[in-house]
Amino acid sequence: MAGQFVAAIDQGTTSSRCIVFDAEGGIVSMAQREHRQIFPRPGWVEHDAEEIWAAVAQVVPEALAEAGVGADRLAAIGITNQRETTVVWDRATGRPVHHAIVWQDTRTAPLLRRLDTEYGEQRFRERTGLPLATYFSGPKLRWLLDNVDGLHDRAGRGEVLFGTMDSWLIWKLTGRHVTDVTNASRTLLMDLRTLDWDPEILDVLGIPAGMLPEIRSSAEVFGTADGLSGGGSGGAGPLAGVPVASALGDQQAALFGQTCFRPGEAKCTYGTGSFLLLNTGESPVTSRHGLLSTVGYRIGNQPATYALEGAIAVTGSLVQWLRDNLGLIASASEIEQLARTVEDNGGCYVVPAFSGLFAPHWRSDARGVIAGLTGYVTKGHLARAVLEASAWQTREVVDAMNADSDVALRRLRVDGGMTANNLLMQFLADVLDVPVVRPKVSETTCLGAAYAAGLAVGFWPDLETLRAQWRQDADWAPAMDPAHRDRELRNWHKAVARTLDWVE
Ligand code: G3P
Repeated sequence: MAGQFVAAIDQGTTSSRCIVFDAEGGIVSMAQREHRQIFPRPGWVEHDAEEIWAAVAQVVPEALAEAGVGADRLAAIGITNQRETTVVWDRATGRPVHHAIVWQDTRTAPLLRRLDTEYGEQRFRERTGLPLATYFSGPKLRWLLDNVDGLHDRAGRGEVLFGTMDSWLIWKLTGRHVTDVTNASRTLLMDLRTLDWDPEILDVLGIPAGMLPEIRSSAEVFGTADGLSGGGSGGAGPLAGVPVASALGDQQAALFGQTCFRPGEAKCTYGTGSFLLLNTGESPVTSRHGLLSTVGYRIGNQPATYALEGAIAVTGSLVQWLRDNLGLIASASEIEQLARTVEDNGGCYVVPAFSGLFAPHWRSDARGVIAGLTGYVTKGHLARAVLEASAWQTREVVDAMNADSDVALRRLRVDGGMTANNLLMQFLADVLDVPVVRPKVSETTCLGAAYAAGLAVGFWPDLETLRAQWRQDADWAPAMDPAHRDRELRNWHKAVARTLDWVE
């Protein structure tokens, strides 16, 4: 095994980044580019997959140049990505046939209602571990097949390929059409036990199997990158000859980067949305309280590790909304300062059901509310309520997780951009009533992809070595008066109820 560094590409909802790591898991360099959010109609969200590829092809050489690392010194590169976002491209030209449909997009709600009536949600849940929600890829793919001229026939002839962002990037880098189990487990098309596409579900959704990628593990060599020319066309370049050796959905990558390798260990990542994953070991646990059963990771031919997930659609993007749509702050980090201008939320609660409500409610028809407004409420109170929304949504997910598993969560490892906000972290510990712990390397998503790629090529020997590299940065202990917490929780539940009785 050659090379002293491992790189990771994180293709996220709002940006793509590349980070170079050293053998201790320390960050050597990082480059990042945002891409456009395209909102063609209310509830619709799209990305341009070509624009995303261009961003990736920029950030990789930038990060390598900043680190002073050439392809010869890279042991491997790993990929992690926003999950569920659906791309279809032409096998011959490599051109996407339509904008990618993003995980937050709710256009498939009527299709899901029909599937529920005709086949019943239980049938999908049993096989895939997922509810019938607009969140997942399979119905988005079906929408494309129904709405892009001639696509269904072309798919039948094998002329077009489907993938989530991992597949799209691996195909661009190596020319292989593959995905990993964690990403496949978010399509509503994969059997969670066989780890293969479910022929009956493909049939029900009318999806030709020939357009689907091969499902592989999360840590193995998928191919070698031939530069950054795209489409596996054999060019020289900054990544030429580097093994592409991991793929994990970003939330599973963060679980891996946080080294939550043992059943019962959990993390929550605070990005655009927030995602709490609990390692449940080698068999999937069925949730009775609105959580998702999903694949956590699979290393080579070892058994898969499963996870229970509480997915919250809107947390960081609510802060962006306050910045971009309301103009109350100039940058996301200013929210802490604004929220600190007041003592409390002033009686105000914001429930950001912008894409409906995800866990534990799974209501595509829910719409956001600001509840409890009086003339007393200022922008400081609103800022505070926006931050508190992230914590209360986490609390709902933790309550569901505790109800689903025998053991109550004892502490929570957190990561992601919002964890820099100390006010939020204290409030989170207060409402969860458990300690909250932040690691030194907060870029756990990229770190997880790098760890998996490094394991695949023998750069790191085993999971225990990775676990030993985890370092704590800060922790917060719960300090809120229990009676106050209970009162606030009741108000939060009342505000959530308002989003659910909204009928268009
Ligand atoms: O399931 C959606 C999730 O993978 C998106 O994560 O960090 O790109 O918002 P993020």
